[in-house]
Amino acid sequence: MNHLLPPPIHPFPARMAPEIAIEFCRALPQEALVLDPMVGSGTTIRAAIDSGHQAIGIDMDPLAVLISKAWTTPVDSCLFRRRYEEVARNAQVLVNQDLQLPWIDDDIETGEFTERWFGKPQRLALRALAHVLHGRRGPSWDLCRVAFSRIIITKDKGASLARDVSHSRPHISYQSSNFDVISGFERAAETIARRLESEPPRRRATVRLGDARKPKVAAGTVDAVITSPPYLNAIDYLRGHRMSLVWFGYTMKQLREIRGAEVGAERSLRACDQFLADTMHEMGQIDDLPPRLLGMVRRYVRDTRDLGAAIARTLKPGGQALFVVGNSSLKGVFLRNDKAVELAASAAGLTLASRMERELPPNRRYLPPPTGGDGDLNQRMRSEVVMTFKRP
Ligand SMILES: C[S@@+](CC[C@H](N)C(=O)[O-])C[C@H]1O[C@@H](n2cnc3c(N)ncnc32)[C@H](O)[C@@H]1O
Repeated sequence: MNHLLPPPIHPFPARMAPEIAIEFCRALPQEALVLDPMVGSGTTIRAAIDSGHQAIGIDMDPLAVLISKAWTTPVDSCLFRRRYEEVARNAQVLVNQDLQLPWIDDDIETGEFTERWFGKPQRLALRALAHVLHGRRGPSWDLCRVAFSRIIITKDKGASLARDVSHSRPHISYQSSNFDVISGFERAAETIARRLESEPPRRRATVRLGDARKPKVAAGTVDAVITSPPYLNAIDYLRGHRMSLVWFGYTMKQLREIRGAEVGAERSLRACDQFLADTMHEMGQIDDLPPRLLGMVRRYVRDTRDLGAAIARTLKPGGQALFVVGNSSLKGVFLRNDKAVELAASAAGLTLASRMERELPPNRRYLPPPTGGDGDLNQRMRSEVVMTFKRP
């Protein structure tokens, strides 16, 4: 069961269970076009291409795009090995030189961020690597960026002063570090090279930055959508990912804007309509929530409705959509995100074909925000709902 898909090349929180994606892909007609508009680490599109389908992946998070693209693009591993060795050699020479990284050096907030989260020796080496990689395009360069990011986004000690970066819950845990960035980069790159060499992707998926609510995919062209939207208030992907993205040319302001636009973000919406009000009541005891949190639920429902409409538009008549959704809690109020998805899909003209609830294996559970010890709630948050819909 574990080895339905090759091991991932980079950590990612709340990955979809591969068996769900694989089973669904195997049942599709040959050479189907599969879309995941919230592709994350690329589980669904890797399952699709490895099952012989075409696949398109979209995400708002530039790190998700980088990882999923690199995982679904065939590369010449000899070329990648030569590339990462050359990058490491060039960076080593630059470590103590006066380098310009304008998005960091000319932006106080971004500069302070790198100083707060990284020790000086690591910062100098990361700057050198970032300088060598900046502006370089192509699969082997992307893999070098994934290797670079792997040494930062780890559970334990990596190139930063934080722990738990891979769970998107980074917190500063060390005052200084003796982590050797350049050799860490080479080790990470070699791990990736071996993984891709032993199980290369069968073909290339198309992956790009974009918004799932307005995907740039022609209407009526997609055979199947497979996706797992973020749960309301569950994981703040950019909180961890910005630790890498600041080295790839993004300022803190740009990352904040992306973070605020993501579905499931802690942002409020005031304007209401009948659909939003009815759906919110179907989700749980929302009357117990303070106004700010009610606004967050409202925005989540609005975003989910937009997502449902966009997905329905891309599907061919007879096309299918599979959603994997977990539930949330806000201040101890249990919220059924699956209801929001079900009602959004139905409002978009899709019909529910199947619904199944499954227990989350312990390694895939995320930590709900503190709830005041509601045991029943914790129990209910240990499952996820798998729903399939059909476009008539
Ligand atoms: C639960 S994760 C997907 C995990 C993925 N199925 C996997 O196996 O790795 C949800 C993803 O939705 C993305 N996302 C959130 N809002 C988005 C939006 N408006 N458009 C596109 N992607 C979005 C997040 O960046 C995150 O990568």
